[in-house]
Amino acid sequence: MAPSAIAPEDSPERQIFVRKAAVHSRSHRSFGSSVASIRLNDGNSIPQVALGVYKAPNSKETEDAVTAALDAGYRHIDSAARYANEEACGRAVRRWLEKTGTRREDVFICSKLWDADHGYEATVKALCSSLHKFGLDYLDLYLIHSPAEDEEKRLQSWRALETAQKLGMVKSIGVSNFGAAHIKNLLRYATVVPAVNQVEVHPFCQREALVELCNKNGIKIEAYSPLARGNKLKDPTINAVAQKYGKTPAQILLNWNASRGNVVLPKSLTASRIQSNLESFNFQLAAEDIQTINALGSENYVTGSMHKSED
Ligand SMILES: NC(=O)c1ccc[n+]([C@@H]2O[C@H](COP(=O)([O-])OP(=O)(O)OC[C@H]3O[C@@H](n4cnc5c(N)ncnc54)[C@H](OP(=O)(O)O)[C@@H]3O)[C@@H](O)[C@H]2O)c1
Repeated sequence: MAPSAIAPEDSPERQIFVRKAAVHSRSHRSFGSSVASIRLNDGNSIPQVALGVYKAPNSKETEDAVTAALDAGYRHIDSAARYANEEACGRAVRRWLEKTGTRREDVFICSKLWDADHGYEATVKALCSSLHKFGLDYLDLYLIHSPAEDEEKRLQSWRALETAQKLGMVKSIGVSNFGAAHIKNLLRYATVVPAVNQVEVHPFCQREALVELCNKNGIKIEAYSPLARGNKLKDPTINAVAQKYGKTPAQILLNWNASRGNVVLPKSLTASRIQSNLESFNFQLAAEDIQTINALGSENYVTGSMHKSED
């Protein structure tokens, strides 16, 4: 059982959890890269860091970024139908697999169902369209991008995801932007517990109650906008910690998130940043520094998140 999201970092509970998690993550699928992987509640493994591609164009620029990420050691790409770049991501992934002789199962590809496609039939159609655009036989993870307004359609969408998982069109299924009420409502209805909830999480937006609810139910947190969209890189606390470790502020933000056991999804189209973001996980923040960062904030959204924690 994961410790409470608000358990002190140096508590015996959290230390035991961290040790167990380290042993656990070494003991399963590694994706042939140095990036740690985490076990999901359905038994599948997920690489803990992904290249996010929000606002990346459906063009060579994104193909180059995805290729640079895979060359650097990323094995996980986080896209969405809404980002309208599934073709570019798919082209880059397929080309890279062929070039390097890497197996399809050694990369992890995520896409998301957009709000306009809720409902059983529409969801199946949207997933088929995403698969077609990627040029892949299956996705590793497919998420409901946001709960949207229509509860009945949302639940039908979840039923379609459960069927798609059974059919092998997608290995794992999950949600995004679900607040506590959405999660509780879905859990009453679902046959399959979502593997992840992808939400905005970084030191300025920690969402402790939502994270704790997800942890308790075995739903892994995927932290989006883990760099706070670059808006907090001048924060004095983050900079003081960065200076202490000889790291960049971005690396401190990413390390903090991973130290909580979250999957992190930094977005960059810049090769040097793609590389340095991946180098954020080879050091350990001391408990006192984690405590200092924990004091920074709880719900300061940089994305104007569609749905808050308690929704
Ligand atoms: N499910 C959802 O509703 C949802 C919502 C938001 C995001 N996401 C996912 O999460 C991913 C990341 O979130 P995000 O794109 O909102 O923001 P983010 O990753 O927090 O920040 C991205 C911004 O930071 C810059 N950046 C990246 N690395 C940097 C570094 N080392 N130093 C300085 N600046 C750096 C990037 O610029 P360059 O590209 O120019 O390097 C970009 O402007 C998305 O791409 C998407 O996959 C999901």
